[in-house]
Order: sequence, then C-alpha cells, then structure tokens
Amino acid sequence: MKNNLWINTIRTGHILDVLPQMPSESIHCIITSPPYYSQRDYCAPGQIGNEKSPTGYIQHLQEAFSECRRVLKKDGTLWLNMGDKYQNGELLGLPWRLALALKDDGWFLRSDIIWRKPNAMPSSVKNRPTLDHEYIFLFVKSQNYYYNIDAVREPHVTFTPESLMKGGRNHFGKRNGTPENGKNDSNPNLHDGRWDQAFHPKGRNRRTVWEIPLSKFRGVHFAVFPEKLVELCILAGCPENGIVLDPFIGSGTTAVVAQRFGRKYVGIDINPEYCEMARDRLEQAALI
Ligand SMILES: C[S@@+](CC[C@H](N)C(=O)[O-])C[C@H]1O[C@@H](n2cnc3c(N)ncnc32)[C@H](O)[C@@H]1O
Repeated sequence: MKNNLWINTIRTGHILDVLPQMPSESIHCIITSPPYYSQRDYCAPGQIGNEKSPTGYIQHLQEAFSECRRVLKKDGTLWLNMGDKYQNGELLGLPWRLALALKDDGWFLRSDIIWRKPNAMPSSVKNRPTLDHEYIFLFVKSQNYYYNIDAVREPHVTFTPESLMKGGRNHFGKRNGTPENGKNDSNPNLHDGRWDQAFHPKGRNRRTVWEIPLSKFRGVHFAVFPEKLVELCILAGCPENGIVLDPFIGSGTTAVVAQRFGRKYVGIDINPEYCEMARDRLEQAALI
C-alpha cells in the first residue's frame, strides 16, 4: 500500500499483520509502549503479553521490532518504553532482556532513560524499595540519526542565577561576545561539556532521568502514556512534518501529541475499541 494512504490513520490488527503492508524506510520516529508481560488481558486473540514465559514474550517483541526496523528510515529513532515486573517475588529484568535482544538483532542502543513517576502507585512491600520507574530506550538504525538536542534542553541547575551571570559574562567576553564562537578559546578549563552544562543560553543538555507524573487520562485504558513523555521523544526524535508510528497505540496518546506538534502519525492496535478511542481523541484534540 502507498505511504500516503497510511498517513494520519489508526489501523486495527496484529502488529505483524499490519506492519508488513507498510513501505520500508517510510517512518521518521517510533514511540511505543508494548503490552506489559502477564499483566492484563487486552481481550484480543494474538495479543502480546500473555506468553507462558518471559522468553516467549521477548521473542514476540523481537519479531515485532524487526518489522519496526524495516519501516523506520535509516536516520530514524525508536523510543521504546517498558516497565519491569515481579514474579514470585523476583524482578524479571524484562526491559534489559529486551534491550539486549534488540541489540543482538542489530539495533544500536543510544540511551537508557529512566522515567521516574512521582505519583506511582504506593505498595505495601516491607523488604525492598517501592518501584517507581520505567525505562525508555532510545534505539537507532545507524550512527547518523536525527536528534534535535536544542528542542529538549532543560534548565541549568548547577549554578545560582547570580554566579551563572557572573561566570557567563566573563566567559562570553572572552569569546567576542557570543557564546557560540570559539568555545574553548584561551580557557582550557572550559571544555565543551562544562560550557554546555553551565552557560548554553537554551539550557543544559537533557539528562537521562525524566520525572513525569502518570497520565490523568486513565480508567478507560490502563496504561496510558503521559503526554509530556511523548512530547520529549517527538521533539528530540522526529523532524517537523515527519511521521511518528506507534504500533501499540492503545488510547492514542502518541498520535494526539504528534498532531499537536505538527507531525504526522500512524497508529496500530489489535483491539478495535482502543482504535476507536484513539480516533475519538484525535478528533476532539483537532477541535481545540
Ligand atoms: C501498554 S498499551 C499502550 C498504551 C498507549 N501507550 C497509550 O497511551 O494509551 C499496549 C497496547 O498494545 C495492544 N496490543 C497488544 N498486543 C498487540 C498486538 N499483537 N498487535 C498490536 N497491538 C497489540 C493492546 O491492545 C494495548 O492497547
């Protein structure tokens, strides 16, 4: 099927039935959160997550992400969110099991991001810390990939505003008045990393721990992405007007945020009711 027939649609079906119909290297960015292992029934035959063992689960996800790899452009990015799970009192280590399996399949792992949830569900455990994070893995197909560092910078925190001004002024003076010119000229202590950390006018490079509260849009679908999380992945990993794919779209969060930020979207879900929910959300969001 031609690429333009896919753009801005939500498709119902198993990822491995739908994705093979899509053209190769047509997607700029994939943002997705696959079903958790052994957590809930999405009421659809063929759903991923109900395998008998973690090994079977990882294998199914490897097959799914191999198709994702085919449709992703050479310079595209994959942002893969996954939480871990306890079984019989033992942490399964699923995010890293999957990450290592995908590395073996040829994906380059560029970053492991901790998504810290300040409003995570409290737990009654007394013999270990309460789990309040998940992973987001940034995978790419080649070393040359799209990444907009400036779009996701965060505020400087290492210096007080006063000391930053003082150091900054002194520093900019040495550089003919602009922070961009001759970064390390005549100041060996101020290597690129420190300059970026302390003085970059747009903030410092985003760090790998992202503190983002769980989404308020819960109840109808259990595992909804917070919009802020998707926003960061889109701004960093997808050029304006590019196409974002979420092959496990659920309630449609990835598509809603893509639409808001001037990107196109393609969503897939095995459950027709979730696809309907996603289409409704997109329609509502477009009216705002
Ligand atoms: C964790 S949820 C995604 C939630 C989504 N990020 C959101 O914001 O609503 C995973 C989704 O994968 C879907 N799913 C499960 N197995 C699938 C399969 N084989 N192919 C496509 N979708 C599948 C489920 O129906 C579920 O909606």
